[in-house]
Amino acid sequence: MSTKIIVSNLKKNFGEKQVLKSIDLQVNKGESLVILGGSGSGKSVLIKIIAGIITPSFGSIIIDGVETASISDSSRDKLMAKFGFLFQGGALFDSLTVWENVSFRLTNSQKINKKQAREIAIEKLRLVGLSEKTADLFPSELSGGMQKRASLARAIASNPEIIFFDEPTTGLDPIMADVINDLIIANSKQLGATTITITHDMNSARKIADKIAMLYEGRIIWFGNVKEMYSSGNSYLDQFIHGRADGPINFLNK
Ligand SMILES: Nc1ncnc2c1ncn2[C@@H]1O[C@H](COP(=O)(O)OP(=O)(O)OP(=O)(O)O)[C@@H](O)[C@H]1O
Ligand SMILES: [Mg+2]
Repeated sequence: MSTKIIVSNLKKNFGEKQVLKSIDLQVNKGESLVILGGSGSGKSVLIKIIAGIITPSFGSIIIDGVETASISDSSRDKLMAKFGFLFQGGALFDSLTVWENVSFRLTNSQKINKKQAREIAIEKLRLVGLSEKTADLFPSELSGGMQKRASLARAIASNPEIIFFDEPTTGLDPIMADVINDLIIANSKQLGATTITITHDMNSARKIADKIAMLYEGRIIWFGNVKEMYSSGNSYLDQFIHGRADGPINFLNK
């Protein structure tokens, strides 16, 4: 199995605040990695750095054998065309209809004509359980869960090689959450995409992950196969996956 992403000694600080202290991580091609960690531990920052949305303070990110942490702007555009990203808050464009949001990249950078783009958008919307009727609505006319699903449809619309999902099931009912889990699995297992998913939803983590990485105090404190997660002997991971208030993890933000 070939390695798709290699992150080494990655650091990120915002002013005095060191969010990522030293991150080492590898993801194989076609693999589904789930990142666990407390609120504010730096999960969203980490995947935004890997996706080239935030620049790191230090360290290396190699994607398909190419160092991307210090890439030029023109090469970055080409690189980012490989990525799909579901933002934690959805981040749909208010002034575009749902289908225009979903097909934004197809019409903008891939120069696919409008009619075709709309068809692809409707197909992707169907995959996330949204009917054709939603296509012509504006994001403000959708419920929170529907907005989330429309954002997901946008993240997968261009069949990206690497897809980042930041809390894809948060705010969805249990049935829809499982539809989304299956969709993530379909993207990695059938379409061959490499996926990195942040979730607090342990059902989802168990179902979609090949590998689990747990982030705590700026480092990956546990990494392993999903099967080993419940017998890791790691008291931090145990506290997190069982949702216990008592344990080594200090939940007060410093
Ligand atoms: N642009 C920024 N400027 C300054 N600080 C930031 C910025 N983005 C994130 N941070 C800080 O970095 C830390 C990690 O944020 P991040 O959003 O990655 O957390 P998270 O693990 O995704 O949390 P949650 O589970 O609540 O989404 C937080 O303390 C946050 O305040
Ligand atoms: Mg986050």
